[in-house]
Amino acid sequence: MRDLLADIADVGRDPRRGGYSRHGFDRAELELREWFTAEALRRDLAVRTDRNGNLWAWWGSPGADAVVTGSHLDSVPGGGAFDGPLGVTTSLEAVDVLRAKGFTPNRPLAVVVFAEEEGGRFGVPCLGSRLLTGAIDADAARRLTDPDGVTLAEAVADAGLDPARLGRDDEALGTIGRFVELHVEQGRGLVDLGEPVGVADSILAHGRWHFRFTGEGNHAGATLLGDRRDPMLPASALVLAARRIASNVDGSRATVGRLVPNPGGTNVIASTVDVWLDARAADTLRTRVVVDQITAAAAAVAADEGCTVTVNEESYGDTVHFDPALRDDLAGALGGVPALPTGAGHDAGILAAHVPTAMLFVRNPTGVSHAPAEHAEAADCAAGVVALATALERLAG
Ligand code: HGY
Ligand code: MN
Ligand code: MN
Repeated sequence: MRDLLADIADVGRDPRRGGYSRHGFDRAELELREWFTAEALRRDLAVRTDRNGNLWAWWGSPGADAVVTGSHLDSVPGGGAFDGPLGVTTSLEAVDVLRAKGFTPNRPLAVVVFAEEEGGRFGVPCLGSRLLTGAIDADAARRLTDPDGVTLAEAVADAGLDPARLGRDDEALGTIGRFVELHVEQGRGLVDLGEPVGVADSILAHGRWHFRFTGEGNHAGATLLGDRRDPMLPASALVLAARRIASNVDGSRATVGRLVPNPGGTNVIASTVDVWLDARAADTLRTRVVVDQITAAAAAVAADEGCTVTVNEESYGDTVHFDPALRDDLAGALGGVPALPTGAGHDAGILAAHVPTAMLFVRNPTGVSHAPAEHAEAADCAAGVVALATALERLAG
């Protein structure tokens, strides 16, 4: 097998951050879409783009009760090479393996590439699968903007889609009988167990909240401390409260990876600061407790500093429990591989509410993800291809 990941290794490299920056409908991701389309056509798969910009490559004519696999090609800013693309390349390679052994599916089989899974451009994760399933309001989605103020409606129109058609797609959703997503593990479960492949058991409840702290822009030198309304103080309090409060709620995680002062001058007291909180926990109750306590801690500092704060929940998804029968059936078919929980969200987590869904994980030697150091050994990726081919043959045979 040719290493398809090597084919795209130079697409969307980010010289400033390191790693890759490939975001929904941007130049790098559009280039990856072209690559995927060419690879699918080379395999005589019929390629279609659905109304929400998700790419579907069909083995056999589209139809009900299809076995669907795939993942995403977009990345986080400065992301690794495997998160998303490994699921797409192993899907194509699994088709090669099945073709080479003379397998012909008894039901339609498709490889899908979901749009904007990371939410790296428009802020909402799993945007393509959320639109497909109606998990996000289409009008609200059309209004989503990227950091340059470009709306999703404009971006999809530039990509040749009709923004008016964004939204729940019962026809496409109706074709899916089972969905299986292969993904590099984002964590150390498999490496600690000494296993190359595993299946997913659950996904933490998780969401994203946008905070805007507003104070008074002013001069860093001429403004007395007592005369300041510096929004950077409550913003900083939020960052520290996230770690303090999450550490008190077992299994929860709270992260601030993005904090943007406006205007952002070295000798300028910011007028506003935007902060995005990513919070996750075993269930909605715990997640809401964590977010509420972090919000209260930051609001108290904002009040002390004469600043105001607005909070907007940008996305939320409850705990995902993958279909136990499918999980155990595939784990058994793969020789009794382990079932692992994950703290990472996936399109499979969105589809799990609609169709029997499973995930296969490939060992990540360090567990590091969402960073250039993300890695999976070639032998483990090959084991992933064999595992996925076995799963697809079992489900579509
Ligand atoms: O954020 C996540 O968990 C996923 O990688 N989109
Ligand atoms: Mn990711
Ligand atoms: Mn991913």
